Amino acid sequence: MGKTVLVTGGAGYIGSHTCVELLQSGYDVVVVDNLCNSSNESMSRVCKIAAKKLKFYNADIRNKQALEKIFSDNKVDWVIHFAGLKAVGESCAKPLEYYENNVNGTLVLLEVMRAHGCKKIVFSSSATVYGTPERLPLDENCRVGETTNPYGSSKYFQEIILSDLYKADKEWTVVLLRYFNPVGAHKTGKIGEDSKGIPNNLTPYISKVAIGELSEIHVYGNDYDTPDGTGVRDYIHVVDLAKGHVAALNKITDAGVYTYNLGTGVGYSVIDVIRAFEKACGKKLPYVIEPRRKGDIAVCYADASKAKRELGWEATLTLDDMCASLWKWQQKNPNGFNS
Ligand code: NAD
Ligand code: UFG
Repeated sequence: MGKTVLVTGGAGYIGSHTCVELLQSGYDVVVVDNLCNSSNESMSRVCKIAAKKLKFYNADIRNKQALEKIFSDNKVDWVIHFAGLKAVGESCAKPLEYYENNVNGTLVLLEVMRAHGCKKIVFSSSATVYGTPERLPLDENCRVGETTNPYGSSKYFQEIILSDLYKADKEWTVVLLRYFNPVGAHKTGKIGEDSKGIPNNLTPYISKVAIGELSEIHVYGNDYDTPDGTGVRDYIHVVDLAKGHVAALNKITDAGVYTYNLGTGVGYSVIDVIRAFEKACGKKLPYVIEPRRKGDIAVCYADASKAKRELGWEATLTLDDMCASLWKWQQKNPNGFNS
């Protein structure tokens, strides 16, 4: 029998892609999600892509009784913990809601895991924990904690909580995965990021301009110290990212705290991304230069060599793959999962 993975937040963008990879790799998958930022349609699509079933619980991870039931019903070997709120701007306006959901959610989850003797967790962290980069590329030993918004701080606090837990009980296996900029969609075009309203992130915004829903792209700053003056990021295909989780589960056998950057190691500018998307959709995309966005850094990209060395994982999909898959998802699902 395959190992069972409980995926919190599994109906969301990264979670759904990870469920596909888990099912295709022979894991049994149980998802808990309160659908506050997703739809259970993504779960049916995951099952269609993988031609396998998963078990879905519509519940909030802060609800201890609900989690108790999930752990009593299923013998969970690993937890992959995606559930959380993730909008940087919203976190500045609603810090208490962000800390309450993200930090409390993790505390309740860990308590229930411990009570059921399940002590293996993979946590969705973020490059945001590095704040303004101490050096580039960012490696796992770079300074963390000088975060610039409550969302980022909540990720940092959760990393500390998980590390403290291992210090107190050496039976825990804690894997902290620091994602760089996840973009793109599954190549089938069946699952992708279903962003509500006007997107804050670059690639969903570009694809809404390409489909005609928004009129032009706003480029936040062209006076950074970068080759073309626009911000540089390490964009990683969401399917590569999902595979990074499976690699961690397959490879890590001993207790401990393991930290990995999941990125490509390559930085692209905003203009590079617009050009790549133009190629994918076959049309010119209008853009205007705006002032810098508050809180943005100029350049951010990973040293991804530790994950390659220790997990045998590296990103293989290109920026063109990211844009082509996002465009396919956008065209097939103009209204996201409600199409
Ligand atoms: P998402 O919003 O699509 O997925 C998160 C899921 O968690 C959603 O389905 C939501 O309904 C669920 N959820 C939220 N709070 C919950 C709760 N209390 N109980 C149960 N379910 C709950 O976001 P995503 O982009 O897939 O991100 C997944 C994780 O990765 C998050 O923790 C996010 O902070 C982290 N991350 C994302 C990015 C990114 O750019 N997308 C970058 C770095 C880290
Ligand atoms: N940008 C634009 N126009 C837009 C949106 C973004 O020019 O409409 C620029 C930004 O200034 C930045 C780049 O595009 O230079 C990428 O911006 P995103 O908003 O797509 O992504 P960020 O790097 O700001 O942040 C993302 C996630 C965070 C996460 C971080 C690191 O939103 O949650 O990556 O993983 F913490």
